[in-house]
Amino acid sequence: ELNKNLEAMAASFAVTDDKIREIIKGFHASMKAGLERDDKDALPMIPTYVCGRPTGKETGTFLALDLGGTNLRVCQVTLNGDTTYSLVQQKFTITQEAKESRLWDFIAECVGVFLEEHDLHPPTGRRSIPCGYTFSFPIFQTSIASGNLSMWNKGFTVPNSVARDVVNLTQSAFQRHHVPVEVVAILNDTVGTLMTSGYSHPDTQMGIIFGTGTNAAYWEKLENIPKWVGEDRSGEMVVNLEWGAFDNATKVLPYTPHDNKLNRKSPNHGLQVYEKMISGLFLGEVARNAVLALVDQRLVFNGRSSDIFNKSYTFDTAYMSEIVSDETPDLSVVQTVLESTLDIPLTTLLDRKVVKNVCNMIGTRGVRLSAAAMSAVLLARPELLTNTVSVGIDGSMYQFYPNFERDLYTVSRVFLGEDFVDNRLKLHLAKDGSGVGAAIVAMTVDRDREHHA
Ligand code: BG6
Ligand code: GLC
Repeated sequence: ELNKNLEAMAASFAVTDDKIREIIKGFHASMKAGLERDDKDALPMIPTYVCGRPTGKETGTFLALDLGGTNLRVCQVTLNGDTTYSLVQQKFTITQEAKESRLWDFIAECVGVFLEEHDLHPPTGRRSIPCGYTFSFPIFQTSIASGNLSMWNKGFTVPNSVARDVVNLTQSAFQRHHVPVEVVAILNDTVGTLMTSGYSHPDTQMGIIFGTGTNAAYWEKLENIPKWVGEDRSGEMVVNLEWGAFDNATKVLPYTPHDNKLNRKSPNHGLQVYEKMISGLFLGEVARNAVLALVDQRLVFNGRSSDIFNKSYTFDTAYMSEIVSDETPDLSVVQTVLESTLDIPLTTLLDRKVVKNVCNMIGTRGVRLSAAAMSAVLLARPELLTNTVSVGIDGSMYQFYPNFERDLYTVSRVFLGEDFVDNRLKLHLAKDGSGVGAAIVAMTVDRDREHHA
């Protein structure tokens, strides 16, 4: 009975090579439609107003703000002009209260603390400190320094923000808190990652986040962006895909009842469905749903759960990482997580094996879908694949999920070709990339402004 159930579960979580080919095809159609027009069924494909590739020669010290899914970082970034940089940063964990209500004041308070602790003031002759702002939620940009929030995700629900200009909202909070900072550029975290990687590796074509959420940005020729309204159609621009929104109608994606359960209960039901199969905020919850289904059939834990394990989002994806890398003969790490952390009484070795097996199914599915998305974007620009291509990546899944990078390479080989992946594809960790990327973009904007002044 248990074996039959596990086999069925494994089949439902499997993503075959053919399925990935179908997903890549779907991605291409959805990217093309999104570049043509804003359409809720297509990928958002947001023009970012970032048009100049970094050269590695940028110099100067800039303030950067980086609102991720888990942390707010305030950084002072120094670009050394020789492809290297250094940064002083302070990390503030975003409180639940900030995620649900007073985010803008929270941001202003953190920036205020940073300025005070580092004794920072506006440069001589200026009233405020110019700042690059990385914002890791979808915004429809109206210029390099403005953009309206399309929706919240990753558990954020701050009211009175959707459809409003998030730079304005932040800037007003700065005023309320007497923080002398002016946002001169706003960018998605994937754009920051792309720029940082490009600063050190000029052949960078793509920036990806595999973290609390997932998304990517890439360089596209302006002539291939029909919906771009600017007059100049020469050159290129970074496009933010917002790929977490791929196939929200689940026409191609193999959604299971465990995914549906998560989706239905989430504040953004029916949205970001791809992200919900891939990223760190959700994998543990899908696994919890799957294990609970086995508990309900009395196939594990003797049919009993615990108060903790019954609560949503208590099975953190970090536990999955620990579990899948447990190689001890009696699975003692799995035992500690289940019994000590999650309060499940007296597990058997078989219970632990089953849990490890389920975690593996969901983790493998996540990395295969991650590789599918990356491959799809690279295959959309086939002319690039004859040269070396660097991809800048950041986020907790890429950094901490066991063998994530290795598996990305292995899976991509099937779709991008062994020769390209083995010899020309370079994945780089762009650690804290978004902050550095924000400084690079802010520097460019500030330089152009001074030039025109
Ligand atoms: C950080 C970036 O390193 O990674 C953020 O600076 C980004 O901008 C984040 O959002 C993503 O990682 P995670 O795992 O915190 O979502
Ligand atoms: C979510 C956001 C996206 C961001 C990603 C990674 O998908 O919509 O803007 O880039 O998370 O942080």
